Amino acid sequence: MTEKKTIAVVGATGAQGGGLVRAILGDPNGGFAVRALTRDVGSEKARELAKLGAEVVAADVDDEASLERAFRGAHGAFCVTFFWAHFSPEKEAAEAAAMAKAARRAAVPHVIWSTLEDTRQWVPLGDDRMPTLMGNYKVPHFDSKGESNKLFTAEGVPTTFLLTSFYWDNFIHFGMGPKKGPDGKLAITLPMGDKKLPGIAAEDIGRCAYGIFRKGSEYVGKTLGIAGEHLTGAQMAAAFSKALGQPVRYNEVPPEAYRKFGFPGAEDLGNMFQFKRDFEDYFCGVRRLDVSRSLNPALQAFDAWLAKNKSRIPLD
Ligand SMILES: NC(=O)c1ccc[n+]([C@@H]2O[C@H](COP(=O)([O-])OP(=O)(O)OC[C@H]3O[C@@H](n4cnc5c(N)ncnc54)[C@H](OP(=O)(O)O)[C@@H]3O)[C@@H](O)[C@H]2O)c1
Repeated sequence: MTEKKTIAVVGATGAQGGGLVRAILGDPNGGFAVRALTRDVGSEKARELAKLGAEVVAADVDDEASLERAFRGAHGAFCVTFFWAHFSPEKEAAEAAAMAKAARRAAVPHVIWSTLEDTRQWVPLGDDRMPTLMGNYKVPHFDSKGESNKLFTAEGVPTTFLLTSFYWDNFIHFGMGPKKGPDGKLAITLPMGDKKLPGIAAEDIGRCAYGIFRKGSEYVGKTLGIAGEHLTGAQMAAAFSKALGQPVRYNEVPPEAYRKFGFPGAEDLGNMFQFKRDFEDYFCGVRRLDVSRSLNPALQAFDAWLAKNKSRIPLD
């Protein structure tokens, strides 16, 4: 029997990493084993992963030495950062740097870096179609990831740059689900005009990452975008209406209004949606559905995701 290749997974108790852990454990004959990284090996989620068959080890993305220990001997590493835990693009870049350095020191043969675009390549800081945020960014949680790509390259780490998409799970956890307006009717609010938003079930990001590892070195050194479907606000509202059995409207607002909603991160997300709206051809084009499905044949479309998850969406 050949030895299994171990994949070290950052964020293993979370959305993206969790999907990868479950994909590996769900394919016991696939030739891969999983090492789940967590800050707390005693947490309920960590113990759950151990029970399912994962090797669970302690590591923190703010502690490079802990990452190096956790990456050692692994065939692959899935690297993701946690912008919304601290809202700091500089901290996010430092975490990416720690992972890149740890991967180089541990000589990991294949890293998947969960990244996004540095939007400043499309909308330079001097372009006032959207405000500059935090002094140096247009979409802070995108720009710091995109800017960090070069850290993996500079360390000489064999890397696949994985461009992820908007999680449909945001309709459950991120307060973006349908809400009742003054007329008592449900609506989803997005500043996307009539443009398409690439979306994905968060679980499918990990499953696509597993597909990348299964393909060996094919995607090393490559940038790859994934999505489950590209849908307009109106199309998502129609899918909600069908799934929930009551009308859901698309409440289209301008990005300027969205930026002023006042919740933490509203300006960042307002700029993000504007970027996706204004550069729809590029943004959808790079997130190919056929490629995503070739990596993950179980890739869910929005209707299928909604059918499975509609009872988890809070409706006020
Ligand atoms: N929401 C979206 O639509 C979307 C779309 C694309 C990309 N993203 C990006 O996805 C990233 C977050 O990924 P996710 O959604 O998979 O995260 P998540 O579900 O929030 O998972 C967070 C997990 O990461 C671990 N973690 C947090 N801080 C850590 C640290 N300092 N060191 C080690 N582990 C740490 C935690 O595990 P322990 O507590 O067990 O340590 C936690 O379970 C963000 O940067 C975001 O910008 C989000």
